[in-house]
Amino acid sequence: MKVLTVVGARPQFVKVAMVSRALAVAGIEEALVHTGQHYDETLSRVFFEELGIPAPRVNLGVGSGTHAFQTGEAMRRLEPLCVEQRPDRVLVYGDTNTTLAGALTAAKLHIPVAHVEAGLRSFDRGMSEEINRIVADSLSAFLFCPTETAARNLAAEGIVRGVHNVGDVMIDAALRFGVAARAKSRILDRLGLAEKGFVLATIHRDFNTDERVRLAGIVAGLVACGEQVVFPAHPRVRKQLAAFGLDVEIRESSKVRLIDPVGYLDMIRLEMAARVIVTDSGGVQKEALFHGVPCVTARPSTEWVETVELGWNRLVEPDAETIRTAVAGAKPPARAPPVLYGDGHSAERIAEILA
Ligand code: UD1
Ligand code: UDP
Repeated sequence: MKVLTVVGARPQFVKVAMVSRALAVAGIEEALVHTGQHYDETLSRVFFEELGIPAPRVNLGVGSGTHAFQTGEAMRRLEPLCVEQRPDRVLVYGDTNTTLAGALTAAKLHIPVAHVEAGLRSFDRGMSEEINRIVADSLSAFLFCPTETAARNLAAEGIVRGVHNVGDVMIDAALRFGVAARAKSRILDRLGLAEKGFVLATIHRDFNTDERVRLAGIVAGLVACGEQVVFPAHPRVRKQLAAFGLDVEIRESSKVRLIDPVGYLDMIRLEMAARVIVTDSGGVQKEALFHGVPCVTARPSTEWVETVELGWNRLVEPDAETIRTAVAGAKPPARAPPVLYGDGHSAERIAEILA
């Protein structure tokens, strides 16, 4: 059994770290291909090093561009590799342009596609990720769902064959690396942060970064909350803050601290220690629940509906006063967060099913 895995963006490196290991244990040969969608050291190399991911066999060097450019170039460069490697399965993750390119290329070569994180839906086709998910799922032979809700979403679209609710591989990662993060990460000391004494913020979705009014609302909300805010900034938001002149507002505030994106161990250490997390990330919303930290999500919808239903996550408009009051009022619900997205063995289940 030979699997060709296609990854290219930060959240996919966290997921592949767990699954690659499980494939090796199950005796499955894997050829790891990096599309090059993310190429900054802080978005890519640091994850391979920290999480012990095998070096990719090939980096396709696709880089940044429009959706069509990224997807098309990745497909063009991936096709000859699939033909040469003749894998039994192509494995894709999540909902990025890399996912779409991997699924389309494989399906057109009649190679069965396996999709990790299948069935998630925000029901908002304004999100490019929703389009990527729908297409990847409709082309997949193996659909590895993280939740029952995801499996139900697929059933509602008529997809029932090959669907497996295996739990969430990101929870495997949080469990496996949580101890190492506590032991090894020095980020709290380095930034002078106290446990539960700060707000952690990450923002990178195009609909928040690329419209001035939305990004200005988020920045003003973070400044107005009056607490210490640590904001590891994805290059996309860093560029847009500068383009809209909002970096000045941040520099002038003594409370909001913009830092470079951090590695995974530092990130989960920050998540564990934060009083509240403000985000528009998919992965960070469920990591917040896992670490028992209330979350404020600057999005109109979420795929991780359980986080909201349980009262650990609140969706807000990117408006200064709304964000300020949501952060001020955020506190953990009386009941501890349930074990929701898996038991730490999701990657093993995926490997078993593939084997
Ligand atoms: C992508 C995914 C998104 C995912 C996110 C994870 C798509 C459509 N979007 O968004 O679903 O949540 O990754 O982080 O696939 N850039 C750099 N250095 C890099 C990479 C990007 O500076 O290494 C900058 C470039 O200006 C680029 C912009 O960030 O144009 C956006 O990058 P892109 O890969 O298009 O999408 P993300 O916003 O990273
Ligand atoms: N992450 C990280 N460093 C950061 C920001 C995020 O290690 O500076 C991790 C985060 O803990 C999670 C994953 O990256 O595991 C989420 O990726 P991202 O928010 O980029 O993408 P999304 O999940 O929204 O697709």
